[in-house]
Amino acid sequence: MKYFLDSAKMDEIRYAYETFGIDGITTNPRHIMLSGKPFLKAVTDIAGWIKAEGLSGADVFPVSVEINPHIDDADEMIAEAEKISAISPNFVIKIPATEAGVTAARKLEEKGIRTNVTLIFSAAQAILPAKNGSMFVSPFIGWKEANGEDCREYIRNIVEIYKNYGFYGKTEIICAAIRTPKQIADCAVAGADIVTTGLDVYKDSMKHAYTTQGIGTFCNAWDNTAVE
Ligand code: E4P
Repeated sequence: MKYFLDSAKMDEIRYAYETFGIDGITTNPRHIMLSGKPFLKAVTDIAGWIKAEGLSGADVFPVSVEINPHIDDADEMIAEAEKISAISPNFVIKIPATEAGVTAARKLEEKGIRTNVTLIFSAAQAILPAKNGSMFVSPFIGWKEANGEDCREYIRNIVEIYKNYGFYGKTEIICAAIRTPKQIADCAVAGADIVTTGLDVYKDSMKHAYTTQGIGTFCNAWDNTAVE
């Protein structure tokens, strides 16, 4: 399973790449706002870092960048997506899972512009983007679970549908808005291709009280043992 970082902050991107070897980045308008930079500056900074790291290329290190969420017309979505995708070969354009969104995504994929159909909250919403050849779909997990839903079946259903119809591995499933290490594991068990989350969740995923306690136990033993 691939790990993407959900952030537009350069310090977090550098840290996550160096420390965890993340496989890509996802952003959304909220993450861009939190970077404190204007939209174009935030995304061109990411594009510049990719180039400097030698990660440039369509299939190397995908970076999802969302179009202006106010746009609800397919042709306008396409025009906006074309402008954004010209900034970097790594950019994958995030389009909302609406009727206009899937229309735009299908036409963009036909033009060779890769798409990530986002804001997916039902298995049914994940089918058309896969039929139409989108590179990614982003079912949101954390937002649903924050409202009391258990998403394990929801993810399993998308995986099963994709396996039934030959979409699995072609349109990759990014489980998005992951908030806890348990959700990462749930996505892995269900067979999701990718999870995307913030730096703190990746950090937390490597913490366990017994690991800390075990290191203490072994330090104590080490300190009470002669080396030679
Ligand atoms: C995924 O691609 C989205 O950017 C995302 O996971 C949404 O998460 P947020 O709720 O942290 O903005």
